[in-house]
Amino acid sequence: MFRPMTKSNSGIRTAGRRFLATAQATPNRVHGGLQDQDRIFQNLYLGNSKRCHTGPWDLKSAMKIGDWYKTKEIILKGDKWIIDEMKKSGLRGRGGAGFPSGLKWSFMNPPGWEKNVGPRYVVVNGDEGEPGTCKDREIMRKEPHKLVEGCLLAGRAMNATAAYIYVRGEFYHEAETLQRAIDEAYKAGFLGKNVCGSGYDFDVFIHRGEGAYICGEETALIESLEGKQGKPRLKPPFPAGVGLFGRPSTVTNVETVAVSPTILRRGSSWFASFGRERNQGTKLYCISGNVNEPCTVEEEMSIPLKDLIEKHAGGVKGGWDNLQAVIPGGSSTPILTAKECEDQIMDYDSLRDAGSGFGTAAVSVFDKQADVVHGIQRLLAFYKHESCGQCTPCREGSTYLSKMMDRLAVGQANEKEIDQALELTYKVCGHSICAMGEAFSWPYQGLVKKFRPLLVQRIQNYKKEHNLADRELKNGGWYKGINLKDGQVNGSPIPRNSLYH
Ligand SMILES: Cc1cc2nc3c(=O)[nH]c(=O)nc-3n(C[C@H](O)[C@H](O)[C@H](O)COP(=O)(O)O)c2cc1C
Ligand code: SF4
Repeated sequence: MFRPMTKSNSGIRTAGRRFLATAQATPNRVHGGLQDQDRIFQNLYLGNSKRCHTGPWDLKSAMKIGDWYKTKEIILKGDKWIIDEMKKSGLRGRGGAGFPSGLKWSFMNPPGWEKNVGPRYVVVNGDEGEPGTCKDREIMRKEPHKLVEGCLLAGRAMNATAAYIYVRGEFYHEAETLQRAIDEAYKAGFLGKNVCGSGYDFDVFIHRGEGAYICGEETALIESLEGKQGKPRLKPPFPAGVGLFGRPSTVTNVETVAVSPTILRRGSSWFASFGRERNQGTKLYCISGNVNEPCTVEEEMSIPLKDLIEKHAGGVKGGWDNLQAVIPGGSSTPILTAKECEDQIMDYDSLRDAGSGFGTAAVSVFDKQADVVHGIQRLLAFYKHESCGQCTPCREGSTYLSKMMDRLAVGQANEKEIDQALELTYKVCGHSICAMGEAFSWPYQGLVKKFRPLLVQRIQNYKKEHNLADRELKNGGWYKGINLKDGQVNGSPIPRNSLYH
């Protein structure tokens, strides 16, 4: 998930960001083709011998691939050094918003922070509920020591006393693996009192959620950790001021934390050498949908979308020419047409300029046989279900939009209603407590902008099939004089998903 929108030159309202306008740079080289020796996640490819070696995740195996190497030295370099390195690396939060991580971590150490005596927390976001996103889960089950070591180093940078890892409820085995890795780290003296002999004390705890998508939102996550209903808080105050249990805290994504030890070991300039300016580093991409080999793979930032799909996911089913559309950054990011995908590169700035978003880099592919309208209909039903209901624009808007989409999917609607629903999404964006308002609005906005003819066609077909051409169409999908009886509409079976149900 990522942040609120402004209107871009492409016409779609896209992620509003606090950065200077991008140089609209054309890449000066084609990115991608990451070498195995530059992959941070070496152990992610169990069962796939094509990429790196694979092996067990336990402490001994993890140390063989470089985890926990010189951790003490890094801790002893201190908070300022770690934060400076993170800033220089160009790492941007991998939870979807893309906020610069070093800067975010530095908010925990304002001048005089030492005077506020008491616990301080790193809260690691492993809720991963966004449809299509499946990278944090891979880290937790195959590279848990990278995450545990990352907690320690992020904790040192923020002068935290403990980390809480919030794991999505359904990830039972991942939580179990992670707990075993934490136990191993305690036993080896890498956690607890005087970690690695550095004089620094640090604890790591796991907390399992119960599968609510909204608990991935940082303040809802904090509420949930405190034992309350997972409902987002108004900001300010921001968590770095008043966070978990009222103490300074920073919520940060699993991938963000797990890449940090390697960045600190290999150096910020190594990490920053990948990708384009302001879009640096390597990244886990999750590729799913109508591809031959769905996968999660680490690649360079700014890789062409086509290369990602063709080289790593075995290509689109039926070949590249059979591509219809792609959702590029997790289910909330606006959809791209096949034509747009032709030369699209995968990074924050490029996808924003294309009227979509990089989000979590979860790429969902639709081939020409897939029903894009039905795909968006399903996503809107998901968002409606997951709205926490605190704010009217989100609670009512997501319900209205989902119902509208149910009718549009079968064509039982008035063409005007396409725009009415669109207008509603513009009213929702920026007017809710958290970014859920944008999360359900953007998929619809993308659909209308890119696939409007499909919606219009369905409406026309529906009219034809039900002999309604001469009838006056009312908003809400009701036709004047319609004969609703015995489960039939004017003598035809009731369409699936229609409002008549
Ligand atoms: C509705 C909603 C759901 C979210 N779900 C997640 C999630 O599952 N995992 C995650 O890391 N961030 C999620 N986020 C973003 C977090 O609020 C937060 O920005 C992120 O964890 C910060 O981590 P980062 O700085 O490392 O990117 C969600 C945001 C919203 C609005
Ligand atoms: S925007 Fe939606 S999910 Fe977020 S606080 Fe408001 S009602 Fe809850």
